[in-house]
Amino acid sequence: MDKLIIKGGNRLSGTIPISGAKNAALTLIPCALLTEEPLTLRNLPRLADIDGFQHLMTQFGVSTEIHGKRPEEFGRVVTFEASRITSNVAPYDLVRKMRASILVLGPMLARTGEATVSMPGGCAIGNRPIDLHLKALEAFGAEIELTQGYVKASAPEGGLPGGDFDFPVVSVGATENALMAAVLANGTSRLTGAAREPEIVDLCNLLTAMGAEIEGIGTSDLTIHGVKRLNGATYKVMPDRIEAGSYACAAAITGGDVRLEGARAGDMISSLAALRKIGIHVEDDAKGVTIKTNGALKPVDLTTAPFPGLATDMQAQLMSLLCKAEGTSVLTETIFENRFMHVPELARMGADISTEGRTAIVKGPADLTGAEVMATDLRASMSLIIAALAAEGETQVRRIYHLDRGYERLEEKLQLVGADIERVGDD
Ligand code: EPZ
Repeated sequence: MDKLIIKGGNRLSGTIPISGAKNAALTLIPCALLTEEPLTLRNLPRLADIDGFQHLMTQFGVSTEIHGKRPEEFGRVVTFEASRITSNVAPYDLVRKMRASILVLGPMLARTGEATVSMPGGCAIGNRPIDLHLKALEAFGAEIELTQGYVKASAPEGGLPGGDFDFPVVSVGATENALMAAVLANGTSRLTGAAREPEIVDLCNLLTAMGAEIEGIGTSDLTIHGVKRLNGATYKVMPDRIEAGSYACAAAITGGDVRLEGARAGDMISSLAALRKIGIHVEDDAKGVTIKTNGALKPVDLTTAPFPGLATDMQAQLMSLLCKAEGTSVLTETIFENRFMHVPELARMGADISTEGRTAIVKGPADLTGAEVMATDLRASMSLIIAALAAEGETQVRRIYHLDRGYERLEEKLQLVGADIERVGDD
């Protein structure tokens, strides 16, 4: 296993290229199951989770072709072709490694009339139930059976009739599964209380490009008119708003001046508003976002919420930044029940954070010092990197396989803007 060694204190300056969005790619890839024609996705990030999903697709008989991109370039272009599906089972040993595999349930059910997917189980940040995924598919006429740790979904003869479902809780994944099931249903379906994250819009845009008929894109009230078949398409994955927000925090904590090339400010309104409240100067244009810091960081109170609220995936990174603010900040996490795993590790670096249920109180400015720390989940790992960049001395971050799931070539990107960071084998 590798680890990252960071020597803090360098002021970041320069340009970081932003990759395609992991959380968009993970719902765009399974759309290949919805058509016999080739689906080509551009700007796919080179990430462990994307490799894992590609491998899962081959289990179903889907062919994948990676088009020539020089290894030093970021991102890749991959064509998926599901002309023949040889299996509609997503096995435990693959699903347990990547819980986003549950997103094959809706499209596989829509294409073949049956899908058997291992229950994904929980992860470090929460128990991650899938009840809303299943209830939405049942509302569309699917029969759901839970047996031996697997979800077995089946459609009536002739396919799903479609139907209406009102989400009691906003769920990104359940909205995605429901959309991918409804597009080939025999009738019209309506989703209310649906997630509105930019990744959902990216999914709707791809499905529309494939011939789907969806109304209300970008709102929480979606109407899907089922069609008989969908065509292939070539589609560019949206830029990763969480990667961009993470590097914005890294720039800010070092007093830096960094250009996030390719970032789309319209997807990051709540994160950029938080950074501006903290005193960061943010400029955006059609091609990216520029972060400039001038002087002291101000404490703020932040609460995560479904889009367009503050992304829960940005909470840990902003917490690290607020360790250096001149005063006390309060962060409230409303989405996941256990998303403060970074707190004890940050405390080992000198942060002064106390937690009470879903609220964290961050007292700043803390004199952060380097330490050996452990990554626990994807965004928590990034928060440790951000703190290390501003810490006195050397920090070693272990178990960085968590990072490799969501940040394409992180150390190379940070080296581009002057960070003293290197990846070494962890003996
Ligand atoms: C997606 O997870 C993202 N993952 C997460 O990003 C992100 O944190 C989350 O959305 C919220 O924005 C991907 O897109 C691959 P949810 P998802 O269903 O779909 C509850 C990262 O760091 N819920 O919106 O699993 C659930 O427990 C990852 O990149 C149910 O109760 O999230 C949670 O409290 C982490 N029943 C809330 O809804 C269900 O059936 C939101 O979960 C489904 C969810």
